[in-house]
Amino acid sequence: MTTILEIEKLNVSYHGTSILQDINMKVEKGEILGIVGESGSGKSTLLKAIIGLLGDNGRVESGRVSFDQVDLLRISQKELRNIRGTQLGMVFQNPGMSFNPIRKIGSQFLEALKNHRKIDEAQAMKQILDMFAKLGLGDGKRILNSYPFELSGGMNQRVAIALAMIMNPQLLLADEPTSALDVTVQAQCVKEMMDLRDHFGTTIIIVTHNMGVVSHMADKVAVMYAGDLVEYGSKTDVLNHPEHPYTKALIASIPQIGGTLPKGIPGQPPAFGQVFTGCSFSTRCHLCDDICIHEKPVMHNCENGHTVFCHKCFSEV
Ligand SMILES: Nc1ncnc2c1ncn2[C@@H]1O[C@H](COP(=O)(O)OP(=O)(O)O)[C@@H](O)[C@H]1O
Ligand SMILES: [Mg+2]
Repeated sequence: MTTILEIEKLNVSYHGTSILQDINMKVEKGEILGIVGESGSGKSTLLKAIIGLLGDNGRVESGRVSFDQVDLLRISQKELRNIRGTQLGMVFQNPGMSFNPIRKIGSQFLEALKNHRKIDEAQAMKQILDMFAKLGLGDGKRILNSYPFELSGGMNQRVAIALAMIMNPQLLLADEPTSALDVTVQAQCVKEMMDLRDHFGTTIIIVTHNMGVVSHMADKVAVMYAGDLVEYGSKTDVLNHPEHPYTKALIASIPQIGGTLPKGIPGQPPAFGQVFTGCSFSTRCHLCDDICIHEKPVMHNCENGHTVFCHKCFSEV
């Protein structure tokens, strides 16, 4: 196994308020990592920090992000742009961020492809239309001749997936790429992303609320809560044998066909910037006791690289 991405002690803030705390993560080449967690837990921030697009408010306070041995946080903007265009692809949660609003989709695809490799226009068009068809975008020529605002949210999302995939990146970061899609189209997009990995060994990090997508696609799963990574491991370990009370609650809150409606997780995540001496989940955790309030949990290693940050998860639950 070759590590393609290594994140070490990553701390990120917006406007000086800490958003991500001490994130450590290793992703192997060709692996699909699913990141889950409630809204506001810092999933998008993590992907944006990796790709260097935190925006004006955001700042990496400390840490390293090594991609294929290159520290992305310590190279020039020009080098980073080059890597972004060729080796790193991103599908943003808001597909509006993938396109220039005042240029037609077709010219944006052609420009991206021509910058990336030697290809003539006819070949490029064929590739683009093939990719559109695979993602269930039938009327490809009309789409290429449209401005982003002329397409629905779901279509923009698929067009953004198509653009990221057609560049054939080594690492694809996909932030809720299927959230605006109906179920059949979602399945097509998931299949295409998996084919990309199977044919080209593409490494994929996918953020999603949809546990079905995670359980279908991912090899590894990372669970985030309030800017902390609370559990990490193989899909089977994390989804079938979760250790952290938050992961257990998250899994229990998935509605089951024919089942009773789940209750959800009582309480609210802490406000960002709230200083915790202990565990950030302690305010909502039914296992919370003194140590959880006063001491930060350290990483506990279960088997096979399954790790969890919790004082209590190995006592009786
Ligand atoms: N550009 C920004 N400026 C200031 N705060 C932000 C910005 N983007 C996200 N945040 C805040 O950072 C926290 C984490 O957000 P985000 O990474 O989008 O979470 P998730 O993707 O898990 O829903 C939230 O409290 C959000 O309001
Ligand atoms: Mg998000």
